[in-house]
Amino acid sequence: VDSAVHTFLETDRLLLRRFTEADVDDLAALHGDPEVMRFVGDGRPVPRSVTERETLPRVLADYERFGGLGLWAAQARAGGAFLGWFEFRPADNGPLDQVELGYRLRREVWGHGYATEGARALVGKGFVELGVRRVYATTMAVNHGSRRVMEKVGLRYVRTFHEDWPDPIPGAEHGDVEYELLRTEWIARGAGEW
Ligand SMILES: CC(C)(COP(=O)(O)OP(=O)(O)OC[C@H]1O[C@@H](n2cnc3c(N)ncnc32)[C@H](O)[C@@H]1OP(=O)(O)O)[C@@H](O)C(=O)NCCC(=O)NCCS
Repeated sequence: VDSAVHTFLETDRLLLRRFTEADVDDLAALHGDPEVMRFVGDGRPVPRSVTERETLPRVLADYERFGGLGLWAAQARAGGAFLGWFEFRPADNGPLDQVELGYRLRREVWGHGYATEGARALVGKGFVELGVRRVYATTMAVNHGSRRVMEKVGLRYVRTFHEDWPDPIPGAEHGDVEYELLRTEWIARGAGEW
């Protein structure tokens, strides 16, 4: 069964691979955790039925749409436990050489440097192998953990912007922030070796 695993990337501790239908329980648990979802989307946990019927099918279909980019399930290389996911894909209808970076990890594994490790490797792969020209990321201004990961992998603050949310969550009044890193900058600064 394992022979069908689509490995995208490996780091010291992580294996990033395509999601499959077999990940439904892990993905539902991740998106069903209020702590994980605090600064994401409408700030509320996602019901299992939505993950099962909408989110996972879209994730699976998107690999073809985005030329092999998409949402990557992260598992521990040692033991194989599901840790969460990394996003690395162009925007809907956006230019293919501009890729959005995102991450969502199980609460139990926060604080071990996994987000930084995976994000750094994705940025490098994007610039070296995938023809990416610009990596960008957005998050709520108050999501300090997410912003710190962006900074640690070399993204630079670009702007703060305000969107109208129908039912804003605490902190939304501070807006969202965008960060970016251009391939030219990344190379000029030593290709991630800082
Ligand atoms: C954001 C998230 C991915 C970080 O994952 P992680 O693996 O714990 O991050 P790392 O261990 O790589 O930590 C990176 C840095 O951020 C810091 N950090 C992490 N969480 C933090 C928090 N809540 N507040 C302040 N700093 C935080 C760490 O201390 C570390 O910085 P340091 O090396 O200078 O100490 C994780 O908390 C998560 O999945 N959150 C829920 C989903 C989410 O909000 N995703 C981002 C939405 S855009």
